[in-house]
Amino acid sequence: MSEPALLRRRQALHHWRRRQAEAGRPVHVVPTMGALHEGHLALVRAAREASPCRPAALLLTIFVNPLQFAPGEDFDRYPRDLEADLERVREAGVDAVFAPETGELFPGGEGSLTRLLPPETLCRSLCGAHRPGHFEGVATVVARLIALIRPDLMVFGEKDWQQLQVLRRVVGDLALPVRLRSCATVREVDGLALSSRNRYLSAAERRLASGLPRSLRRAAPAVAGALGSGDPGALARVLGDLTSELEAGGLRVEYLDCVDAHSLVSHRQALPPLAGRPDSPEPSPRAAPPATPGMALLAAAVHCGPTRLIDHLLLMSRAPIVAIDGPAGAGKSTVTRALASRLGLLYLDTGAMYRALTWWVLRQGADAASAAAVAPLLRDLDLSLSLEAGGAQRVTLNGHEITDAIRTPEVTAAVSHVAAHACVREALTAQQQRMGQRGGLVAEGRDVGTAVFPDAEVKIFLTATVAERARRRAGDLRERGFEVPELALLEQQIEERDHLDRSREVAPLRRADDALDLITDGLTVEEVIERLVDLVRQRVPEEAWPPPAEDQSSPLSNT
Ligand code: PAF
Repeated sequence: MSEPALLRRRQALHHWRRRQAEAGRPVHVVPTMGALHEGHLALVRAAREASPCRPAALLLTIFVNPLQFAPGEDFDRYPRDLEADLERVREAGVDAVFAPETGELFPGGEGSLTRLLPPETLCRSLCGAHRPGHFEGVATVVARLIALIRPDLMVFGEKDWQQLQVLRRVVGDLALPVRLRSCATVREVDGLALSSRNRYLSAAERRLASGLPRSLRRAAPAVAGALGSGDPGALARVLGDLTSELEAGGLRVEYLDCVDAHSLVSHRQALPPLAGRPDSPEPSPRAAPPATPGMALLAAAVHCGPTRLIDHLLLMSRAPIVAIDGPAGAGKSTVTRALASRLGLLYLDTGAMYRALTWWVLRQGADAASAAAVAPLLRDLDLSLSLEAGGAQRVTLNGHEITDAIRTPEVTAAVSHVAAHACVREALTAQQQRMGQRGGLVAEGRDVGTAVFPDAEVKIFLTATVAERARRRAGDLRERGFEVPELALLEQQIEERDHLDRSREVAPLRRADDALDLITDGLTVEEVIERLVDLVRQRVPEEAWPPPAEDQSSPLSNT
């Protein structure tokens, strides 16, 4: 491992940053307050892996930020050991460490410094309610680091869940030009979350501290049940029992709450109505026990002797669904398939289902344009998609293996007629919804987020400008040896197709109101996949849905 550059001054940082730009290397940053442990090293690994095609320069920052400590907190005794930290980062393969003094980072002093005020709604619960000014201090220092470093990506731990939500909001609201990634909490074998503050614990306190994650885990099914019951009284009772259990275990509870994982609004105040809640949600093998629709966070701060510890647990009602819609020619299929594999989710190719039915319609000699002719073929349709060992999708219909047959020009020519019939839309939407009952899939189409899975955890509208799509289409035609029309003509064709798709009566292309947008102009396929992972991870953190051990093919069959 080469020695990481130690940058103590802004000037040195500036030179280092410029060299990375000249070398065309993206810069990925792990901000820390030092006292590094395995959790920080996991962030460094994630920072490295977030750019598989173009190796990134990795920068770790070490700065004990006075702005985020309230009077009486542990700013003065916070562990500082730069030598030991440098030793750890050496092993981790970091390229540089930016470790400024306070006067170097805030040369005008802290007193009259401009501060960033994150939204009150995100700061009034959990730690925000007990650490006045804390998130203001975090947001301010992170914004300053972003301005000085101009990183392409920053990686934060999910351990500081509220901090992560605040920073995502700040970056989004101010359109700060940086991607954010997050990593699951790293734990000791007995479950204690790694934290720099664990080194304050005596041996006896260390034993008591492990009661925190244990009690949270034990209470999770009861919390999920209380959320599912819709009775705020039931939730209050479960949280009351859990508080007593923690206190009996020698921990002093500062707060214990169950909140919506993204808005951070307490479920004590506003339990969602019972209606629409699945009667008997199936537990996902990888997520925490079933809970309320959406994702809930059971979070606590406790004092173990003089040391303040925080921990949490995420509760999901089912495995996640990711819905990706967008106009034709935006390159959805390739990236959706890769995204599914990256996240260990099933790829639901709704287009393949319409093609499979079209193959059956043609084989039966029915008129693809006639709803009356197609409708009877929908009865007893036995259509299934499954993944083969290498990740390839297998399509079978009524006992026929038709994976390749659905890609013929005849099917291509007839599929838009078949897919436009209301009866077809209805039947296949119902089948897709059955496939999605337990979640765990990425589906792609043009009305997935609006008609098929309006309750998807993540909705993405993937698009590219007409000019970009025309350019890509020309490249594709050229590559396949076809004659390439004028770009202006291609653009006109794409505009016409868009207009048709948006204005058709049945299943028009629509962007869901709560969709996240991704415009893919100028991005390579690999970059689009990375951005998609960023978007999914905004809503579905690693702790709720860990990445698969390695690129695996899911054995799920989705009939
Ligand atoms: O999570 C931390 O260590 C700190 O809050 C951060 C993000 C480095 C800001 O000081």
